[in-house]
Amino acid sequence: MASEQPLAAVTCTAPVNIAVIKYWGKRDEELVLPINSSLSVTLHQDQLKTTTTAVISKDFTEDRIWLNGREEDVGQPRLQACLREIRRLARKRRNAWDGDPLSSSLSCKVHVASVNNFPTAAGLASSAAGYACLAYTLARVYGVESDLSEVARRGSGSACRSLYGGFVEWQMGEQTDGKDSVARQVAPESHWPELRVLILVVSAEKKLTGSTVGMRASVETSPLLRFRAEAVVPARMAEMTRCIRERDFPGFAQLTMKDSNQFHATCLDTFPPISYLNAVSWRIIHLVHRFNAHHGDTKVAYTFDAGPNAVIFTLDDTVAEFVAAVRHSFPPGSNGDAFLKGLQVRTAPLSAELQAALAMEPTTPGGVKYIIATQVGPGPQILDDPSAHLLGPDGLPKPAA
Ligand code: DP6
Repeated sequence: MASEQPLAAVTCTAPVNIAVIKYWGKRDEELVLPINSSLSVTLHQDQLKTTTTAVISKDFTEDRIWLNGREEDVGQPRLQACLREIRRLARKRRNAWDGDPLSSSLSCKVHVASVNNFPTAAGLASSAAGYACLAYTLARVYGVESDLSEVARRGSGSACRSLYGGFVEWQMGEQTDGKDSVARQVAPESHWPELRVLILVVSAEKKLTGSTVGMRASVETSPLLRFRAEAVVPARMAEMTRCIRERDFPGFAQLTMKDSNQFHATCLDTFPPISYLNAVSWRIIHLVHRFNAHHGDTKVAYTFDAGPNAVIFTLDDTVAEFVAAVRHSFPPGSNGDAFLKGLQVRTAPLSAELQAALAMEPTTPGGVKYIIATQVGPGPQILDDPSAHLLGPDGLPKPAA
């Protein structure tokens, strides 16, 4: 048990992000350098966030980490890469400035605890929020002020996009050392206040093929993936940036759906094929297209990552009607009350015409387990209140309240 006070204790939070131009495939596995640039929307931390505390003390004899209350193996290569990278950056800064009061911290071991406010295995990009939070918190505790893209990226590629709020691009970069493979904000979270995000949780089970393994197989075997990276994504990055800057919802929505579909097409083009969508995912895709066709306008978009859960983008004036359509097509089971979590959504009636349009598909009771309603949100935050620390002064997890 520690006898001295810790040298430093910091607690931060970081958001989940959802890509609208997908990252799939690495050109360098060790440095986590992608074969194409990607672009994402940062989701609000009121609904989905990771909280991480890092404590350094002379008394600690080894680095240790607890995830959602359970101690994990700190020797995992990705964790080690993040720790090594942050200490390298800290050392670089110390050398530039000798009188640093924290310079002794570099030789100290660190204890880290991290919790999500959402189910880790629900396929909701928990690794992105987790590694972004780790990078951000370690940077604060070790006094690092430089760009953290590399630290977060070494944990999980998509994590570098969770270092900023709003709309974020991860530029693939050209250098072999990865120095120019960085995340940048395209527009802040205040830019498009009407944008809403609905997460349709179809399955909370852990995915069969993890992203790292899946994308390695795609890089090795899918000619479509190579074509996508070289001939499709560069123009899509420019077009998506324009849609966001001009708040062009139909343009944004159509490109989001097309890019999700192309990502899943590259999975099917992988040999042996990978399939992340299930029958309910496909029903959601059809529901969105019927909904848009009924309105004669692109009012709703879907996107899917490496799992069957749908992320829906729409504008605030359409949320209530679309949620009513989801309830109609996927009647909730006994959890009717708990079906909608997050932002308040008013109840809206479904017009007879829309009901008739939706009736062309069979209903799937219980197909959507629940919906999380959220919006675009800010990047990582520092929590100043010491009571927020997940680790006590002894560097061990505080008992859960
Ligand atoms: C489908 O960032 O989880 O969500 O770098 O191997 O950890 P690793 O992969 P990860 O991949 C995310 C893939 C995706 C698309 C995206 O978020 O851009």
